Amino acid sequence: MNLRGKAISFEGGEGVGKTTVITSLITEIKKRVNIEIVKVREPGGSDIAEQIREVILNKKNTAMFEETEALLLAASRAQLLREKVIPDLEAGKFIIYDRFVDSSYAYQGGARGLGIENVIQLNNFATNKWLPDRTYLFDLDPEIGLSRIRENQRNTNRLDEEPMEFHYNIRKYYLEIAKRFPERIVILDANRSPELIVNDILNDMNNIF
Ligand code: TYD
Repeated sequence: MNLRGKAISFEGGEGVGKTTVITSLITEIKKRVNIEIVKVREPGGSDIAEQIREVILNKKNTAMFEETEALLLAASRAQLLREKVIPDLEAGKFIIYDRFVDSSYAYQGGARGLGIENVIQLNNFATNKWLPDRTYLFDLDPEIGLSRIRENQRNTNRLDEEPMEFHYNIRKYYLEIAKRFPERIVILDANRSPELIVNDILNDMNNIF
């Protein structure tokens, strides 16, 4: 595997287990490859972008319009990409994104009804069309995802508190987006142990990097 200057992203609905898998994937990569790995999360990931994140996820902000939300997410993304990710890639590091543009396509474009096409255009402007080399979509029944969150007593955010239909829509739109970009997005069955999922990802990475 040659991971220098490459990037991957992780996507999926609430409680699909991205965080656990990313942590153990990083451990496994370090056993195999000597490279600096940088993990970033969206929205946020740099000083300015974290300030934007606070506004997006603050439970007080119930009056926020969908358009505002999409623009703030794209603003956070534009900042993080230019301030941190591009320079790190140029320095040969390996970037792991915990959510990237596909989150906006599915949440804002799909579930919030702004239109996937509009959100793709907005994000093309924010990122200058930069995309990760590979995207892993964690596919899971939202009932299972949300019950995992309740079991772990993880703090909920403004988006976890949406009605069930919202979460079913997220899954549906993610799968549509994956069909649209089959050369970049790999769908993973997230209703399995983290070990099996990490194995699938490592196999795929071995093939493409
Ligand atoms: P976070 O607590 O980081 O959730 P998770 O652990 O599930 O990634 O909250 C991020 C929330 O923001 C999550 O509900 C998804 C949402 N989001 C969007 O709606 N659009 C986006 O473009 C991004 C990056 C996140």
